[in-house]
Amino acid sequence: MLRKIDHLGIVVRDLDAAVDHWKALFGLEPLHREVVEDQGVEVAKFPIGESAIELICPIREGTGVAKFLDKRGEGFHHVCYEVRDLVEALQHLDAGGARLIDSKPRTGAGGDQVAFVHPKSTSGVLTELKQAR
Ligand code: CO
Repeated sequence: MLRKIDHLGIVVRDLDAAVDHWKALFGLEPLHREVVEDQGVEVAKFPIGESAIELICPIREGTGVAKFLDKRGEGFHHVCYEVRDLVEALQHLDAGGARLIDSKPRTGAGGDQVAFVHPKSTSGVLTELKQAR
């Protein structure tokens, strides 16, 4: 079901500062940056091999990411796996009793179809599934 680790998401307080820091620290390029309005975040993505690091910063209060930042501070937020068939993967997880945050795909960063699985079902780590293109 899981084809590869697509990206790791890290929550940051100040996206401009974090981007500059990651660029200087690791020499990462190029950068893809966008606002994901329905999740209330701005993300900056650095490709690393066949995966990527996604820096995530809340753009308003009350969202899941804003609450995460208030409660836990900056840090590791989620892992995203690419799947061959997202609808099938969600059905499989649902049938297996997993707690799904999204029961069906929604549009995430980069226009990808994604869905989140509750960390209670994935050993404490918020998990994002992304439909392979
Ligand atoms: Co993500």
